[in-house]
Amino acid sequence: MFPGHSFAPLQIRGRQLLPVVQGGMGVGISAHRLAGSVAREGALGTIASIDLRHHHSDLMDMCRADPRHETLARANLIALGREIAAARKLAGGNGMIAVNVMKAVNAHADYVRAACEHGADAIVVGAGLPLDLPDLTAGVDIALVPILSDARGVALVLKKWMKKGRLPDAIVIEHPAYAGGHLGVTDIADMGHERFAFTQIFAELEGVYATLGITRHDVPLVVAGGVNSHEAVRKWLEAGANGVQVGTPFAVTEEGDAHPDFKRVLADAKPEDIVEFVSVTGLPARAVKTPWLERYLRNEARIRTKIGSLKLACPTGLECLSACGLRDGIEKFGHFCIDTRLAAALRGDVANGLFFRGREALPFGSAIRSVRDLLELLLTGVARPAVAQRAAFALA
Ligand SMILES: Cc1cc2nc3c(=O)[nH]c(=O)nc-3n(C[C@H](O)[C@H](O)[C@H](O)COP(=O)(O)O)c2cc1C
Repeated sequence: MFPGHSFAPLQIRGRQLLPVVQGGMGVGISAHRLAGSVAREGALGTIASIDLRHHHSDLMDMCRADPRHETLARANLIALGREIAAARKLAGGNGMIAVNVMKAVNAHADYVRAACEHGADAIVVGAGLPLDLPDLTAGVDIALVPILSDARGVALVLKKWMKKGRLPDAIVIEHPAYAGGHLGVTDIADMGHERFAFTQIFAELEGVYATLGITRHDVPLVVAGGVNSHEAVRKWLEAGANGVQVGTPFAVTEEGDAHPDFKRVLADAKPEDIVEFVSVTGLPARAVKTPWLERYLRNEARIRTKIGSLKLACPTGLECLSACGLRDGIEKFGHFCIDTRLAAALRGDVANGLFFRGREALPFGSAIRSVRDLLELLLTGVARPAVAQRAAFALA
C-alpha cells in the first residue's frame, strides 16, 4: 500500500481509497495490468470494457476463424471476465477494480452484467446518461459511478436514480476542455463554457444536494481532465473535490496496457499536435494529430460530402456503437471506423492509429514511469529518480 500523504481518503461504498482515480481508457489502453497495478497501491483502477479481445490471441484467432458478430461479442465478454480476474489478482485485495462502460456502446448492458458477474467492485459509465444503470445492477452489491460534465446532468441523474431508490456511489465530473477521448459536450465551440468549471459545478451542486437531503459523504465528487501535477491535485481537493480522476498520465505508465509506441506518441505530443474533432459517435473527441488523423481532418469535408449520408456495412462486424456516423450514414457525425483506428493505436501502429489524449502536459514530461512513481508524485509532490524500465508488453 501507498505511504503517507496529507489528503483525506476518497470513500466509495464504505472503502477508503487514495483520492487519485485512474480513468478507464479504451480500446485496451487500461486493461488488467494498469487497473490492477493502480488498485494494488490502494486506489481505484479502471478497466475499459470496450473490445478487450485484442489482448487475447486465442480470442482473436476465434474471431478470425468465425467473424460473425455474435462470435466477436462473445469474445469480448470472455476477455472482460479474464481481465477483471487478472486485475483482481494483481490488486491482492487492495483498492478497487472498476469497469468503465460507455453508454454509446451497443453492448453496454452486456458489459455491465459481465462486470457484476465477474466481481468488479464498481461500474463507471460515461458517453451518455446512465439512467438504466440501477435497473441493470439491481440486487448486486457494486458501486455505481456516472461520468457527467455539468451540474444539470448531475442533478438529473441524482433525481432519476433517487426515484429508483439508488444513489450513485460517486460522480466523476469530466471537463471537456481538458480530458482525453470523447468529450461530454455537443458542440466543440462550447467546451470552454463556464458551466463546465469545477468550482461553478461545486457551488451549483451545494444547493442541489441540500434540496435532495444528501451530502458529499453520500455522493462524493471526483473531477477529471488536465489534473497533471501535485499542485493540481491539491488545488482541486482544496477547492472541494473528494477525488481527482487522471487518464493520460496513467496511459503512459510502464504498467499501461498499450504498446510502447502508443505511449511515445502521447508522451512526445506537443500542445500544437493535440486536436479536437467530431467522432463517429457524434461527440467531439480529443487526440494527437498523428498521420491518419491529419489526413482524415484534411479530407473531412470531402468525405462528408461524398459518403456522409450513405449507410455502409460495419467494417469489423463488431457493430460497436448504437449510433455510428459511418454505418448509419449520419452526415454531421465522423466517418471512419473508430474500432479499427483505436485497435491500431493500441498495437502501436503510429501511421494508422487514433491516439486519444488529454490536452495538458504530462507530470513526468516525456518520461515513461511506474504507476507507483506517478501516484507518489501526484499525492506528495516527490519525484523519485527513475529506475530501469520494469514492464513487459504483450498483445495478441
Ligand atoms: C487514450 C484514452 C482513452 C480513453 N478512453 C475512455 C473510455 O473508453 N471511456 C471513458 O469513459 N473515458 C475515456 N477516456 C477519458 C479518461 O478516462 C479520463 O477521464 C480523461 O482522459 C481525464 O483527462 P486527462 O487525460 O487529462 O487526465 C480516455 C482517455 C484517454 C487519454
